[in-house]
Amino acid sequence: MTRVFVTRPIAESALAKLRGAAEVDLWAEPEVPPSRAELLARVPQAEGLLCLLTDPIDEEVMSAAPGLRVISNYAVGYDNIDVAAATRRGVMVCNTPGVLTETTADLAWALLMAAARRVPEGERYLRAGKWRSWSPELLLGHDIHGRVLGIVGLGRIGQAVAKRARGFGMRVLYHNPEPKPEAERELGVKYADLDTLLRESDFVSLHTPLNEKTRHLIGERELGMMKPTAVLVNTARGAVVDTKALVAALKGRRIFAAGLDVYETEPLPADDELLACDNVVLLPHVGSATVATRERMAHMAVENLIAGLKGERPPHLVNPEVLS
Ligand code: DGY
Repeated sequence: MTRVFVTRPIAESALAKLRGAAEVDLWAEPEVPPSRAELLARVPQAEGLLCLLTDPIDEEVMSAAPGLRVISNYAVGYDNIDVAAATRRGVMVCNTPGVLTETTADLAWALLMAAARRVPEGERYLRAGKWRSWSPELLLGHDIHGRVLGIVGLGRIGQAVAKRARGFGMRVLYHNPEPKPEAERELGVKYADLDTLLRESDFVSLHTPLNEKTRHLIGERELGMMKPTAVLVNTARGAVVDTKALVAALKGRRIFAAGLDVYETEPLPADDELLACDNVVLLPHVGSATVATRERMAHMAVENLIAGLKGERPPHLVNPEVLS
């Protein structure tokens, strides 16, 4: 029977479906990914791999799995996979787009609002027993309604974030490799070059994939262009932002605050400088973490894997050129 390696427990209903189609070798630790050595040791017999964004799948892993035909990533982002190497080897790479769009957009807004209105800081203050009285200057934040939202990357998630801004009466600017006239008409958003967007926005929310063009897209120069009252939100990939430059901007109060769900190093090291900044809201990469969405992602990843293993075109194939 076809053998697959699944690098973490996912929704049981999806695993049951996969067990009906293949012999499943499951890495059973929910919060500890297989180490490099363990990953290399578990893949040699695998024809299919269902992996997570925490598993770097490169040439070495693929060489260790000579029978590998399909890599199904349980994520929309696939920067953990060397897609070019997979394509050269005729291995299909799949992802889970669409199902997590609205859930991730909700979380981007949660971070935006929490950072602008200093929600976690206020809770920490109250729990520490510091609240003495209602006070005119206590924990002042910045208004969200009527302000300017800048969206970097107007893909599915960027558009879902823009849609929510309507309820707040915001003006929305966006930057994208190519302008999107249809989205402009539908959502009332306006294209801007990156520098203009950074200068004019009160909130900048990042929604680009991570690739060589977007790595450290937001660095010292870009942070320096933002308003001192601005908030930066990142639910995309940590390396889109130069963390050192961000820490300096937060410490120097060159921007007001940031809301982050993703980091250049995950998990965030216990001594990371971000942890010492009080004007940043930090979440542990949970953009798509709702019961319903994670279940849909699991089913989608399994459906991609099963289709590929049957020799069919998976519904969400990242490298269709592999079939030609
Ligand atoms: C993704 O899918 O790429 C997210 O980062 C995790 O859901």
